[in-house]
Amino acid sequence: MNTFAVKGNLIHAPVFGEIETQIGSLLEVDRDGNISSVISSDDPELIAREKYYRGKRNLFELSDNEFLLPGLIDTHVHAPQWPQLGKALHLPLHDWLQEYTFPLEARYADVGFANQVYSSLVETLIANGTTTALYFGTIHIEATKRLADICLNLGQRALIGKVVMDNPEQCPEYYRDRSTSVGLNETYELIDHISSASGNASKRVLPVLTPRFIPSCTDEMLSGLGKIASETGCHIQTHCSESDWQHRYVIERHGCHDAQSLDSFGLLQPNTVLAHANFINDDDMALISSKSSAVAHCPLSNFYFSNAVLPVRKLIDSAIDLGLGTDISGGFNPSIFNACAMAVTSSRALEEGVDAALPAHERGRRNMRIDFKEAFWMATTGGGRALDLKIGMLRPKYAMDAIVVDTSIEESNLKIWKDLDSSDDVLQKIIHNVHRTNITKVWVQGNQIK
Ligand code: GUN
Ligand code: FE
Repeated sequence: MNTFAVKGNLIHAPVFGEIETQIGSLLEVDRDGNISSVISSDDPELIAREKYYRGKRNLFELSDNEFLLPGLIDTHVHAPQWPQLGKALHLPLHDWLQEYTFPLEARYADVGFANQVYSSLVETLIANGTTTALYFGTIHIEATKRLADICLNLGQRALIGKVVMDNPEQCPEYYRDRSTSVGLNETYELIDHISSASGNASKRVLPVLTPRFIPSCTDEMLSGLGKIASETGCHIQTHCSESDWQHRYVIERHGCHDAQSLDSFGLLQPNTVLAHANFINDDDMALISSKSSAVAHCPLSNFYFSNAVLPVRKLIDSAIDLGLGTDISGGFNPSIFNACAMAVTSSRALEEGVDAALPAHERGRRNMRIDFKEAFWMATTGGGRALDLKIGMLRPKYAMDAIVVDTSIEESNLKIWKDLDSSDDVLQKIIHNVHRTNITKVWVQGNQIK
């Protein structure tokens, strides 16, 4: 049985590098909130189906200026860093963590504070079109449960982890798990809380095993989490080979790169998402690919904290699943459309090089650019693949996670010139100039949440 339909212009990117636009199609949604069919404008059935919904008053008819897109997928967000958005960007990773980020995250011992911040964050991400987010919480179990409850209440699809960090050499006394076993037990506690939460029968919110990164965890913690992964099959998220300092730290401690080390603890699984991964080499790529693990590309944050640009095209050529992440607050913009733009920009910097003192042929690295179509694929289809969820495309059997972008909002920088702009141009303009006011409707699993 179908519950409603949307009639209008659809844009999505099922294939890397290709945009599919369907003008005047009818998209039907079933009782479970999944897309049941997409009827194109030249299908003889269209008129009858349209009439059926109009009669029942459950047809959303979009204007020529409106476009239905898959909901955006943010594969790397630090929820507790929301109050830090746009500041503290002057330090390298290690010092930024110790001087700004750990002191801020320690405040989430206060559940009232967590409640205030997390509500503000989730509302803002939804307003910006993010229908699914993969969240790091803090070490605090109660605050992290609150984040899950808020996502359930506000209707966002979310994957949420209690951050695990127990290594006294890297984590300050005021902000670390009281012991390895406390970190592991509270991880189980979050899994139980989310799995049994009322209103989560459809598993719209999922628990995630979250070792912050290798430096913050003891080997006992990493192997304990590997065991929980094999017992439960939960998603896993962590930071991987992000910066010169972090990459070198793991080489010195484990004698190998992050990918190999994580694999030795059983943490490279098909539902693992590795944030950043800027310093992975060909062997790491082959390993990550062979395990079907994914990478969260965080292009804006990488400019500030990673000391390098991710060679996206090499990862795609290695068949690694890739999504986009804002990395709030390492990245200062909450919009995944902005992450698309930054993915394109950073790939251009990698290809062209940036130092005019070098001759042109030595300045950059060939064939590294990606375009807006490839970036949009990462923001939608790629994110869905990275998370192993049926989201990111406007296709039957996929969840109805979608947004409407209205390109005719007066108070915005997005301006379309009908006789100058093709449908691809419209998408490219949306990516570069959209504002949250242009995002007029948001659905997750068929529920309208904006
Ligand atoms: N590595 C460990 N923790 C963090 C974090 O909070 N943000 C980023 N960007 N990298 C990290
Ligand atoms: Fe991060």
